[in-house]
Amino acid sequence: MPVPVLLALCIALTDALTAFPPKFLVGNPDEDVVVKCNTSRQQVNWTQNGEPEPMAELVDNGQNLTILGLDLPATGNYSCWAGGVLLDSTYVVVGDSGEEGRNASCRADSYLGSFRCSWLGPRSAVFRARLTHSDGSVGDWVPAAGHGGRFSANFTDPSFCPFAEELRPLQLSFEGISDTSFLTFSIHFFVRDIVRPDPPQAPTAQLREGQLHLAWTPPASWPLPRSYFALLYWLQYELPNGTQVDAFVEGTEKTSLQQRVRRVRISCQDPYSSTSWSPWSGWSEVVGTAAAGLRGS
Ligand SMILES: *[C@@H]1O[C@H](CO)[C@@H](O)[C@H](O)[C@H]1NC(C)=O
Ligand SMILES: *[C@@H]1O[C@H](CO)[C@@H](O)[C@H](O)[C@H]1NC(C)=O
Ligand SMILES: *[C@@H]1O[C@H](CO)[C@@H](O)[C@H](O)[C@H]1NC(C)=O
Ligand SMILES: *[C@@H]1O[C@H](CO)[C@@H](O)[C@H](O)[C@H]1NC(C)=O
Ligand SMILES: *[C@@H]1O[C@H](CO)[C@@H](O)[C@H](O)[C@H]1NC(C)=O
Ligand SMILES: *[C@@H]1O[C@H](CO)[C@@H](O)[C@H](O)[C@H]1NC(C)=O
Ligand SMILES: *[C@@H]1O[C@H](CO)[C@@H](O)[C@H](O)[C@H]1NC(C)=O
Repeated sequence: MPVPVLLALCIALTDALTAFPPKFLVGNPDEDVVVKCNTSRQQVNWTQNGEPEPMAELVDNGQNLTILGLDLPATGNYSCWAGGVLLDSTYVVVGDSGEEGRNASCRADSYLGSFRCSWLGPRSAVFRARLTHSDGSVGDWVPAAGHGGRFSANFTDPSFCPFAEELRPLQLSFEGISDTSFLTFSIHFFVRDIVRPDPPQAPTAQLREGQLHLAWTPPASWPLPRSYFALLYWLQYELPNGTQVDAFVEGTEKTSLQQRVRRVRISCQDPYSSTSWSPWSGWSEVVGTAAAGLRGS
């Protein structure tokens, strides 16, 4: 009987949510849910996912429709109509007693109060999230972008002060709706724990008087002044025989060395919090005359 299966698939596909529904109701399994039609009319007609015969046991009391014993087939988009005119729609879902966290993690590229978070969820779900700012105010809901069950969104805390010590963690609350279920979870974190600087610009390499002089600049996204927002730099040199040598410098944006070097790259980290190292810059090649000129040193 392949035809009913295909039909069911088509219905499931057309009903997939593409945006967070503006109005939704979360019910508990096997409990009654009352869907209200926001209208002054006494009599309305109801549809579930566009079907005039909802897959639910109902008590129809004009503006109020009671779903008896909510189960998965009874979930979906309930719309009320009068003479073919759409009056109101409510998306009915079952609360998910489910997992915590959902592997949510956030990354900031600086201390300016902006960051990006990603998490996992059902492929069919739509998510939104909102931030409780450091001053206690609550931000707007931010819709998440999703692809293949991985979701992400960008957030900004306009009250975040990069110069003050963070006393309270930020809180981020997530809400998700899949075809049938509602998911919610929240995470807490300090910006100082999620900062990962962007990579510095690849160093410039100049040969002068037998020495290789390297200079670089901090990532453009890193805040000023440099005296306050210091960076620890990790330089990685590749020698002509392929050996890699590491060096760490802080409080400077240049260094020089006598060794013969084929190429060099750089990464950075906030020295005052043990957050991640930035990604590596590209390699700066020290080519031809440069390498030859170093031979005698
Ligand atoms: C619910 O159905 C109504 C009527 O077909 C439609 O206008 C509305 O966009 C649907 N809502 C959702 C969240 O799909
Ligand atoms: C009901 O509809 C009115 C007018 O369209 C609107 O102002 C109000 O916010 C709606 N209330 C709900 C609960 O949707
Ligand atoms: C629908 O429910 C609301 C409150 O939940 C109530 O005030 C109203 O009278 C009900 N409407 C009908 C037609 O029963
Ligand atoms: C509800 O649907 C029935 C049957 O299609 C129709 O006769 C009736 O006028 C509709 N009522 C409203 C309020 O739209
Ligand atoms: C979620 O995180 C846990 C612990 O970090 C890890 O073991 C698990 O593989 C992650 N799940 C997915 C789907 O990435
Ligand atoms: C979020 O920020 C990243 C860079 O951190 C950017 O690439 C992306 O386009 C932003 N997404 C949105 C939806 O603004
Ligand atoms: C590569 O060269 C460096 C310096 O010239 C030397 O110290 C090191 O032992 C060499 N490594 C190998 C594997 O030859």
